[in-house]
Amino acid sequence: MSEIFYDLAIIGAGPGGYHAAIRAAQYGAKVALIEKDKLGGTCLNRGCIPTKALYASVQSIDKLKDFEDLGIEIKEYTLNFKKAVERKNRVVEELVGGIAALEKAWKNDLYYGHGQIIGGDISSGYDILIRGQEKKKIRAKRVLLATGSSPALIPSFNIDHEKILTSDDILDPNFITVPDRLLIIGAGVIGCEFANIFASFGSKVTMLEYLGSPIATEEPMIVKELVKKFNKSNIEIKTSQNVLSVENTGSSVKVITCSASVPRDQIENAEKLIFEADICLVSIGRMKESKDLGLEELGIKTDRGAIKCNVNTLETSVKGIYAIGDVTGGLMLAHVAYHEADVAVANALASIGGFPVKETKTDYNTVPATIFTSPNIGSVGVRRKAAKDRGLNILMGQFPYSSLGKAKCMGEEEGFIVTLAEKDTYKIIGASCIGVEASELIAELALAIKHGLTIHDVAETIHSHPTISEMVLESSEAAIGKAIHKKGRPIYKP
Ligand code: NAI
Repeated sequence: MSEIFYDLAIIGAGPGGYHAAIRAAQYGAKVALIEKDKLGGTCLNRGCIPTKALYASVQSIDKLKDFEDLGIEIKEYTLNFKKAVERKNRVVEELVGGIAALEKAWKNDLYYGHGQIIGGDISSGYDILIRGQEKKKIRAKRVLLATGSSPALIPSFNIDHEKILTSDDILDPNFITVPDRLLIIGAGVIGCEFANIFASFGSKVTMLEYLGSPIATEEPMIVKELVKKFNKSNIEIKTSQNVLSVENTGSSVKVITCSASVPRDQIENAEKLIFEADICLVSIGRMKESKDLGLEELGIKTDRGAIKCNVNTLETSVKGIYAIGDVTGGLMLAHVAYHEADVAVANALASIGGFPVKETKTDYNTVPATIFTSPNIGSVGVRRKAAKDRGLNILMGQFPYSSLGKAKCMGEEEGFIVTLAEKDTYKIIGASCIGVEASELIAELALAIKHGLTIHDVAETIHSHPTISEMVLESSEAAIGKAIHKKGRPIYKP
């Protein structure tokens, strides 16, 4: 077993890990990046990227409905999911290859195998065993754990990877089936994105959600708009459903539920609903990947699988070992992992000394979230309920796409944007949007919130006309009764 000494060893090359490796190399660190599967992790191989490649097909299908109105007559067309999947696979391969090229360009050493910390301390460095085709041992002054998450598996759901699937199965490069009837358990972000994709390709989709609402973390008025659209698109959402059993009968999947309000000891006699489908997707959250990393032996504390770390510095309970991304149990978003990678790398290298970087802290006040359904959703900062719970006095500006010239030109009039500001200071504190380019619009508001800008700062910024970005301008103006393209009462205060 060879032994090489690194400044930083990173276990896991998902968005957090590969980003951290490049960032550390930019500061001049000698870096080892260890991955047991493919570069890019869940996001690139089984998450954000493959779903967004399929979503691009969905957006084109959506547009087909408007073609005649737009002056394009297409007599016949056929949807070919296999082709869409082949394109998705190409996109993934190219991006995974791109990451390998970037790591090479930054002269980071890539190790393929399972990484495990087997000993050491902050003064002598940590030993890491890599079990790949052959065993290797490396030593690093600092270690970053970025091992991510995987689909949550409930034993009673009998996931067999044939008819009862996880999101990993459905995004497998060889999965090319469009089931006539698709049942989705869990109407969170993953469930809603797949419902949208498969309904567009022709499946009849039924979603079973335990809570009283799908994507319960989002603004209720945004969710209502999405449900309205889903109902028109062959997607039915059954809320407050307690899934009691999931069974592959051979010819179909049978799911039995009862109302989520039935107490556990009364389930036996409660009224049951039976659902049948060709395929069932289970998307009820994700588990942290923290097994066999040597955590217990080293005394690194965990909580139900999540690696505990200092919320500001991201250092674990053991000095010199940091953790980022899904495995920490925080917000499971690739862009949060990117941010955490920057913070952890800065802190790790600053603690070694001699690198052009200072200690820094995380900042979770401005995390944008995007959901790629039709229409898509973007949100950032505080939601109305959270503002109310915090006792904040808020101003709200709302603006519909149907009143925007550019949206009308594009034939994209569904949806609206809501901007929230503090009443006393006019500082923007949150925004939610559903409609075309919602996921892009939210970036301007994230910048505004991060830098403490007010409604007036945004309203006084010239936005190009005609553009969808005017949605942000008009909703800011609407918060103070000044939106030009909206009727209302004057409430303007300078
Ligand atoms: P989630 O937490 O967003 O949703 C899971 C849903 O399943 C919840 O609504 C929950 O109430 C429901 N549920 C849980 N147990 C259930 C049961 N036994 N029966 C019925 N319903 C049940 O988790 P999801 O959708 O699996 O996504 C995982 C993570 O990945 C999330 O943090 C999400 O934000 C992230 N993600 C982000 C995307 C994006 O940024 N566009 C895309 C996809 C995932």
